[in-house]
Amino acid sequence: MTVTGKAKLSGVIGWPVSHSLSPILHGTWIARCGLDAAYIPLAVRPENLAGVLDCLPHMGFAGANLTLPHKETAFRHLRHCDEAARMVGAVNTLVIASDGKIEGRNTDAFGYAEAMRSSGYPLSRFKRICVLGAGGAARAVLYALAKQSSADIVLLNRTRARAEALTAEFSTRMGARITTLDWGDWTSAGAGCELLINTTSLGLEGQPTIDIDLKAFPPGMVVSDIVYRPLMTSLLVEARARGHPIVTGLGMLIHQARAGFGAWFGCDPPVELEIETVLLKAMGQTP
Ligand code: ATR
Repeated sequence: MTVTGKAKLSGVIGWPVSHSLSPILHGTWIARCGLDAAYIPLAVRPENLAGVLDCLPHMGFAGANLTLPHKETAFRHLRHCDEAARMVGAVNTLVIASDGKIEGRNTDAFGYAEAMRSSGYPLSRFKRICVLGAGGAARAVLYALAKQSSADIVLLNRTRARAEALTAEFSTRMGARITTLDWGDWTSAGAGCELLINTTSLGLEGQPTIDIDLKAFPPGMVVSDIVYRPLMTSLLVEARARGHPIVTGLGMLIHQARAGFGAWFGCDPPVELEIETVLLKAMGQTP
């Protein structure tokens, strides 16, 4: 597809950025939709981020994505951020208006909720949910849960103080019903649990695998992992072997991207199975 002088521009800003799947994802959608648009990887050192953000409107960008290590820095730098970005404390999507105003958004919560919905498990259907982890990814998931479900949530994190801080914040600011438990208290976490969500980095390539006793959890419980490298984390492999329905982390990646694509390029990208195949090939995994 030829890019003309009128092409709408976006890209992903990271350091490093070469590992990012976003150019493949958006590039595939741009081609599929036949758009006059471009989405490029932008390798930006941390110390240059503020300057680059300020320049994007002057270079005609419709927006951009932000990835590691820029999401929290961008949130602190930008004057206009949506509620999701404010609750998560991080910006993963920039939308630039025609007057040059940059809005920082966080589409990870939307991506998680949409991934669950499109897998047949809308968040509104769960009454008791167990969330593992209390980092940035947990904040996005908790925001999605607070917005889309009225479930009782139990939160477990290796560093309990972090989970307690998150519990207090999301209870006060969003009215979420959250209880903190000790990491490893699988018996209490498992009682009546309908959805288990891993938001920790455990299971990610190069990280230790998660040490959880799935026997303590009810048989029909849905297990979701936001880690997608590898697609089948050890948690998902074990859950599937035990007969649990599972949801991989790839859906969240795809659906968080949808929101930006629509805002920049003015059309809804085709979210079908083919895009999963494209991404898995790019990750060197067999679809
Ligand atoms: P992210 O922004 O991707 O969520 P993060 O803020 O570094 O990254 O959070 C990583 C999460 O994985 C945290 O919940 C972390 O637990 P701590 O708060 O105790 O650090 C969790 N995590 C990382 N390594 C872990 C391990 N070996 N065992 C248990 N939890 C771990």
